Amino acid sequence: MITFEAVSKSYPGGGRAALTEVSLAVAPGEVFGVIGASGAGKSTLIRLINGLEKPSGGRVVVDGDDVAALGVEGLRALRRRVGMIFQHFNLLSSKTVAGNVAFPLRLAGVAEAEVKARTAELLARVGLTDFATKYPAQLSGGQKQRVGIARALATEPKVLLCDEATSALDPETTEQILELVSNLNRELGLTIVLITHEMDVVRRVCDRVAVLDGGRVVETGTVEAVFLHPASATARRFVLEADGAPSEAAMVDGRVVRLTFRGEATYRPILGAVARETGVDYSILGGRIHRLRETPYGQLTLSLAGGDVEAAIARFRADGVRVDLVTEAGR
Ligand SMILES: Nc1ncnc2c1ncn2[C@@H]1O[C@H](COP(=O)(O)OP(=O)(O)OP(=O)(O)O)[C@@H](O)[C@H]1O
Ligand SMILES: [Mg+2]
Repeated sequence: MITFEAVSKSYPGGGRAALTEVSLAVAPGEVFGVIGASGAGKSTLIRLINGLEKPSGGRVVVDGDDVAALGVEGLRALRRRVGMIFQHFNLLSSKTVAGNVAFPLRLAGVAEAEVKARTAELLARVGLTDFATKYPAQLSGGQKQRVGIARALATEPKVLLCDEATSALDPETTEQILELVSNLNRELGLTIVLITHEMDVVRRVCDRVAVLDGGRVVETGTVEAVFLHPASATARRFVLEADGAPSEAAMVDGRVVRLTFRGEATYRPILGAVARETGVDYSILGGRIHRLRETPYGQLTLSLAGGDVEAAIARFRADGVRVDLVTEAGR
């Protein structure tokens, strides 16, 4: 549905390129996450998809169209197929909820009777039927984002772009919006590209994820692969922070390992046994129970020191616990 072929982007007068040689492919019906630190190029990447920015090099192809080659009319048609929602909702404050949702339809010249019917249908889909005549200022953040989603869906897009769409919302509201987004993906077969700095969001809804660092893609994979076995230092740092471990965990003495417990291994009293048998001391740097979509798993970040650290790692592995090395020995 979306491919980036060696895409680079420099802004006029900007220093370092915002994106360098980015290649990726998003399949139809997929929820694709993009994570990266502030300034990594996430918003730039998403704005290239709907032609708000043009690449300085390489090609962005969306639903068969080379975005940079589209004229004004072609871009307009593309933007009807690619909806977008924003962190701060970007609603028109002078229009009602219904007026905001109807806006792209009126812009597209849809007949008024159809605008009315379609707006009612969209408001029902996002659970805002009773709010049609309210103004944005009268809504909660979650309700505003529902209006944003209904508006983005008005032109029946194939792709929905979400730039930090839940970052301004509390955890419970985030959960509800993510559920809505997941349903849209399933029920409408919508392809979704979702940018976020919240690792929970990626774990809850994404199928695959790309990790951006300094404008380059440093890792791409299924959410399961990237979160359970991160290959790049950047992904490891995100995953470590998502464990509740401070990023300074990487600075402590000893070897820092991340244990992943799934299924039966979760319930065995394994830490004490391994410490006794191998003489290794451990300190706990972080730990949480997470869910990958519906599957729970536990992760514990430990620093291991003294005794036979290699034997301890082998013993964990023999017991069905996954061990990832966060730092090497002797750093
Ligand atoms: N319109 C612009 N003109 C010049 N430079 C820009 C422009 N937009 C972004 N940049 C620069 O491009 C780089 C990437 O910015 P981008 O907004 O894509 O990052 P981001 O990953 O979305 O960050 P954040 O998480 O803070 O939103 C940054 O160095 C930024 O300063
Ligand atoms: Mg951004």
